[in-house]
Amino acid sequence: MVVIRPGPVTVGGVALKNHLVLAAGVLGTTGASLSRMLSLGAGGVVTKSVGPVPKDGHPGPCVAVLDDGLLNAMGLPNPSKDFVEEIAPLAGKPVVASIFGTNPEEFAAVAGWFTGRVAGFELNLSCPHAEGYGAAIGTDPKLVEACTRAVSSTGIPTWVKLTPNVTDITAIGKAAERGGAGAIVAINTVKAMRISTGLRRPVLGNRYGGLSGTAIFPVGVRCVYELYEACKIPIIGCGGIVSADNVVEMMMAGARAVEIGSAVSDNIRIFETISAELYAKDGCGVEEIIGCAHG
Ligand code: FUM
Repeated sequence: MVVIRPGPVTVGGVALKNHLVLAAGVLGTTGASLSRMLSLGAGGVVTKSVGPVPKDGHPGPCVAVLDDGLLNAMGLPNPSKDFVEEIAPLAGKPVVASIFGTNPEEFAAVAGWFTGRVAGFELNLSCPHAEGYGAAIGTDPKLVEACTRAVSSTGIPTWVKLTPNVTDITAIGKAAERGGAGAIVAINTVKAMRISTGLRRPVLGNRYGGLSGTAIFPVGVRCVYELYEACKIPIIGCGGIVSADNVVEMMMAGARAVEIGSAVSDNIRIFETISAELYAKDGCGVEEIIGCAHG
């Protein structure tokens, strides 16, 4: 297996301790859990998404555990502005705030609360099951560009998390790039559903949800590969990563770093587990690896 040299890395203006970042949504709802993931080897952490008003989320069931992944429809539950105090103890750490809104003004307002308190922002333009939010905006290149600009123009590093639920993800990536994104994160969950044959009803309270975990890894690799050919800004690979070899594969597709989410629910020490296999002092430099599957 390819191993790489360890060391800090800066992606899209955010300084990380290594290439492995906790994805939004998993153990990202409290300052304590985010802090724990940093102490367990995450190179950076992304918070659960925070929006302009408090939200309870969708009615349950909100999560279904499948053989090869998780199906969730949490519904963007969050305490809104109160979350600023929740993460205050993490000042100076590589914490990226995931934020959402319905329009550029709301994105700018939410970003304003966190300015000076986080290392950067990740714009959630990709949740596949929240009316008016996420993918409802993130499938329209003009809105993606405008929302990105509303945050990036503050000068704070801005990552944009993309939905795979589009015909051409490169059109959305290029819109984020035009809007001043420092990096793009690909991908958020794949819109999906399951039906309980016993109950003759959808399993999730919201009926539709987002699929994550190993089932979507090949979709993530394909999206990163396409984005690498279309965009100049760095790409952070996300979706079903569970091993060091998965990280290397994402890098070969074009990712400069990766986010890990669902795997954390199976192994709280996943960052240490992957780091132990991925890094070696005599490993190769990442520049040799990133995008090497192209051409
Ligand atoms: O339902 C949720 O809170 C999920 C958010 C997301 O997929 O971005």
